[in-house]
Amino acid sequence: MVREWDPRTASSAEIESLLDTVNAAFAADLPADPQWRNSSLREYLAEVMPGERRISWIAQEETADGTPGRIMGHVHVLLLGDIGVIDVLVHPEQRRQGLGRKLIAKAARRTYQEGFSLIGVEVIGDTPAIGFFEALGFAREYVETRSVLRLSTVDWVTLEEMARGISSGYRLEFFPGGPPDEMLDAYARAKAEIRDIDDGDLDLRPSSYDPQRLRDSLSCLHRRGMKPYIVLAVHERSGEVAGLTEVVVPAQHPTRADQYDTIVVRDHRGYGIDRAMKARMLFELRAAEPDLAEVQTWNAQANEPMLKVNAELGFRAERDWCEYGVNVAELVHRLDATGVTAP
Ligand SMILES: CC(C)(COP(=O)(O)OP(=O)(O)OC[C@H]1O[C@@H](n2cnc3c(N)ncnc32)[C@H](O)[C@@H]1OP(=O)(O)O)[C@@H](O)C(=O)NCCC(=O)NCCS
Repeated sequence: MVREWDPRTASSAEIESLLDTVNAAFAADLPADPQWRNSSLREYLAEVMPGERRISWIAQEETADGTPGRIMGHVHVLLLGDIGVIDVLVHPEQRRQGLGRKLIAKAARRTYQEGFSLIGVEVIGDTPAIGFFEALGFAREYVETRSVLRLSTVDWVTLEEMARGISSGYRLEFFPGGPPDEMLDAYARAKAEIRDIDDGDLDLRPSSYDPQRLRDSLSCLHRRGMKPYIVLAVHERSGEVAGLTEVVVPAQHPTRADQYDTIVVRDHRGYGIDRAMKARMLFELRAAEPDLAEVQTWNAQANEPMLKVNAELGFRAERDWCEYGVNVAELVHRLDATGVTAP
C-alpha cells in the first residue's frame, strides 16, 4: 500500500523501519558508504527552508492481520523555486516489481498538480537508479565526480605546510556551527561569487547568497541535525571574506562528513587560499569530531584547479554523481499511458 506520509507525525517504529530500508539499500548499492543512524532522522526528513515544501509517500507491507508492516519504499518531492526535486528508495528485496515506478508516479502527479513543470533528481553512478530513471525518460543534464578522503591516509605533516602556505595579508578563521552573525554580510558577498556561474547544473541544492537566506539555511541545517563547520580566509587590509570552505557533519552518518561550497573570490585567487583553507579544515575536524573517518566531496569534471587541490589533500575520485531532469507533464503522460498513475 502506498500512502502519503508525514515524518513529523510518523510513529517511531515507522522511522526505524524506514532507516532499515535506507541501510539495506546502502548495503546493496553503496557498500563502502557508512550505514545511517537514527539520530535526528525525523528532523532530517521533516525540516525545510522557508518557502520550500517536502511531500512524502511510503510503501508499507500489509501483514496477515491487517496491521501495517515494514516500510519497503519511500519517495519525497522537495518543491523549491521552479523545480520539484525527488528522492526515491525501494528495499532491495522488493525491487524490479514496479514499486519504484509507482512511487515516482505519486510524486510526479502531485508535482504536476502543484504547477511545477520540471522534476530533477540526483542519481548515483553505477547503481540501479541510472537504468530506472533512464527507463522513465529522465535525461542526464549534469555530471560531477564524488571523491572521498580517508583521514587515516592523510599526511598531517604535509598538510600542516599546506595550511600555513597562504600568502601574507590573509588570515584563516575557523567557525564551528557557522559564521558569526556580524560576518554574514561579508560571507554572503563571497558566496555571491558563484551565483551567476551557469555550469549547466539543475540547481538541485541551491546555495544562499543573501544574509537572511544564509541565516535561514544555517538554522535549517542545525534543525536537521547537520553541523556546519566553516573556515574563512579574511583579507586583512579590507576585512573582506576572500574565501570560504564549508563542511557539514550530519548526525545521521557522523563518520563521513560532506564538503559543501568552497569559494575563493576572483580577486584573491592565486594566493594558496583554497589549499590552506581545506588543510586547516581537516585539522579542525580531526579535533572537533573524533568519530570522523572520511570526508566526501563533489566536483564538476571541468573544475580542474579544485580537483588538483583535492588530489593533493588525498581525495580519491570514486564514482559519477549525476543530475537527471524530466518535464513533469511528459512524465505523467508517460506513466498514465502505462496505467501507473491511475488512482
Ligand atoms: C532506483 C529504484 C528506486 C528502482 O526501484 P524498483 O522498484 O526496482 O523499480 P521498478 O521495478 O519500478 O522499475 C521500473 C523500470 O526501471 C528500470 N530499472 C529498474 N531497475 C533497473 C536496473 N537495475 N537496471 C536497469 N533498469 C532498471 C526497468 O526498465 C524497470 O522496468 P522492468 O522491471 O519492467 O524492466 C531502486 O533500485 C532503489 O531504491 N535504488 C536505491 C535508491 C536510489 O538510488 N534512488 C535514486 C536516487 S533518489
